[in-house]
Amino acid sequence: MTTKRLVDVAWDAFEPLPVEQKTPYLLQPDGTPFHTLFAQQFDLPLLDRLTILSNEIRAIAKTRAGMCFLHELVCHKRAMLYFSQPSSRTFLSFLSACQILGVQTGEVRDTSTSSEFKGESREDSVRTFSSYFDMIVMRTPEKGLAERMAWVLSNSERPIPIINAGSGKDQHPTQALLDIYTLVRSFEHLGGLRDRTVVFVGDLARGRTVRSLSNLLTNYPSIRQIFVAPRQLQIGEDVLDNLRRRGIEHRCGDDLRAAIPEADAVYMTRVQDEWDQEKGESARVDTSRFTFGIEELKLLPPHAIIMHPLPRRDEIAPAVDRDPRAMYWRQMRNGMWIRTALIAMTFGCDKRIHEYYRQNL
Ligand code: CP
Repeated sequence: MTTKRLVDVAWDAFEPLPVEQKTPYLLQPDGTPFHTLFAQQFDLPLLDRLTILSNEIRAIAKTRAGMCFLHELVCHKRAMLYFSQPSSRTFLSFLSACQILGVQTGEVRDTSTSSEFKGESREDSVRTFSSYFDMIVMRTPEKGLAERMAWVLSNSERPIPIINAGSGKDQHPTQALLDIYTLVRSFEHLGGLRDRTVVFVGDLARGRTVRSLSNLLTNYPSIRQIFVAPRQLQIGEDVLDNLRRRGIEHRCGDDLRAAIPEADAVYMTRVQDEWDQEKGESARVDTSRFTFGIEELKLLPPHAIIMHPLPRRDEIAPAVDRDPRAMYWRQMRNGMWIRTALIAMTFGCDKRIHEYYRQNL
């Protein structure tokens, strides 16, 4: 793909472009991501590269010598973890990824403790972070803010990369990467991630992880998608339009027990009531038939897996955790490895990792 430079395009011209046309502006000259903003940036060759790199990193990290090698790789870099929305997994896995690679970190997790509280704009805040750090990992409730900040920084004297750690209801690209990594690993001894059915369950209307994963799955051959949700929380038309355009087999419904026997992966999600427009809006929706317990386990094929981006509430019974098909704890740890790989690739040290792996493992 021919790369373009964000410095050559005005924000008013860039912002309305379809995501596919934005991608060339987000790449380094060798085609690796500079800014990571959208799931759609990742095509199959790039996903394969990240998967291989993650596997190599986790193998290298098994020994003290390997950890010491990884720890030296980018110890000259610093990353700002700018999370203006609550997070446990994404924050901690990015922090761990930085620690694995020796990247020093700073953080703002509550804008009431930064100068945003005094009225500083997001643009000025991010430019301030770029004065001290070499990368910004940001989570924000505002759709499109990560992309705006990427444009701002690319047009500043310190053009450092931005990684979107979740923005609005729209995008969670690195969650989708770890979900894909989990699926690839789960099916690698069963013919790979192809000819599979993924059943998405729960609050699909407001789940950015589902939107991003649905998109990335279209890179893999013959992946059927089934969306199971109450009518009020069903997946958006824009996601379905994307599947129609690409000729991806899919269907929507509200009968979880009917869908489970068809599943290779069941992707559960919680009700995202933090996005309610009015108080009690979500509580009025009956979600009782969109939970996974022992009865649902009995319907699940033996090779299938249960995923969840977490945090969960009551949509997966704790008793399910003991079943070997419950993948969500391993899925969460996979996030640390894929994010380590993404940071390594962004900072251009993937070739050194391949070399070490070839020579030592
Ligand atoms: N899956 C996920 O994004 O979790 P956190 O909100 O805890 O980061």
